[in-house]
Amino acid sequence: MEAEIIKVQAPGRINIIGEHVDYNDGFVLPAAINKNTVFNLKKNGSDKKGHITAENLGESFSFDITSFHPTKKGGWPNYVMGVIHELQNLGASIQGFEGTFKGNVPIGGGMSSSAALECSLASGLNELFDLGINKWDLIKACQMAEHNFVGIKCGIMDQFASMMGKKDHAMLLDCRSLNFEYVPMDLGNHQLLLLNTNVSHALASSEYNTRRSECEEGVKILKAHYPEITKLRDVSKARLIRHKEELPDHIYRRCSHVVWEIERTHKAKEALLKNDYWQLGNLIYQSHFSLQNDYKVSCSELDFLVQQTLDKEYVLGSRMMGGGFGGCTLNLIEVHRKEEFIDNISNAYRAKFGIDLSIYTVYAEEGTSQLTQTT
Ligand code: GLA
Repeated sequence: MEAEIIKVQAPGRINIIGEHVDYNDGFVLPAAINKNTVFNLKKNGSDKKGHITAENLGESFSFDITSFHPTKKGGWPNYVMGVIHELQNLGASIQGFEGTFKGNVPIGGGMSSSAALECSLASGLNELFDLGINKWDLIKACQMAEHNFVGIKCGIMDQFASMMGKKDHAMLLDCRSLNFEYVPMDLGNHQLLLLNTNVSHALASSEYNTRRSECEEGVKILKAHYPEITKLRDVSKARLIRHKEELPDHIYRRCSHVVWEIERTHKAKEALLKNDYWQLGNLIYQSHFSLQNDYKVSCSELDFLVQQTLDKEYVLGSRMMGGGFGGCTLNLIEVHRKEEFIDNISNAYRAKFGIDLSIYTVYAEEGTSQLTQTT
């Protein structure tokens, strides 16, 4: 009898708003999208031989499941091993298996191809070996895989969105309590368009971790006055402003981004519920300018794309999305002006940077799920 094959899909994500606030225990408004990674897994009868193929890249990787370490070379094998390591930390007994994955979440596009890879693998192994791990523990294991095997101290947003996504809905997640609600995403005559700069600056991971420590530094200073504060989530605008002079300028700017962004996220959820697209667009723009000027995680390519939309009345909002330093801008646009927009902005971008944009129309889709099971 042929071995049972488990097939699991996990999507990438967008984040409508709430950028760089997840690791500050704030609120985020992501959605899983119509781009995903599909993992096929089957047992190979051995105790400890793992063999994985990344079909899109034409690369394979073999390792001993009972003894492995992150590779210096980095890349996708570290995500794979990281997930297995974290599942083993939860007590999972994983034996030898073969896996292949492929997908269409652009790598380095800020749509979280990494979460899609982690969540499809973690859920697939959970099924294959009947591990009985609940979704939240899978989400946290995938997040920890990035901390411990990839070296990025990411928040929980991406793995949460990939795992819990729901068709036609965004999700408002409280990154402290992990309570969340589905928010219907009815965009009327508008849609979300991602413009991929097709650049990914090397700063991304080191600066990400630096931003995290800068936020912690802010908390430490403010804690002297308000001992109950543990994360920027606990800091009000009034308190931050009151102590502005005590914080180094760059720390004040980082903190103000986070504190105001959390407020914008709540407002964006209300705007979405009321179908107030102009307000939503406005908040999206504010988010970008705050990420550009205060949090300083944007780059010239992203800023150019946002700038180009400012005189186009059919673009309601535009901002960099995800960790920053490259990847995509998220644009809220009127559907019937889409072609004109694409032509116009692609030409402008090519003329300025000599690079072709990649463009994706995104919809909110279901989260991680098992596909057909064959024997
Ligand atoms: C990356 C991280 C997330 C989040 C975003 C910024 O995508 O993986 O946890 O911090 O950046 O909002």
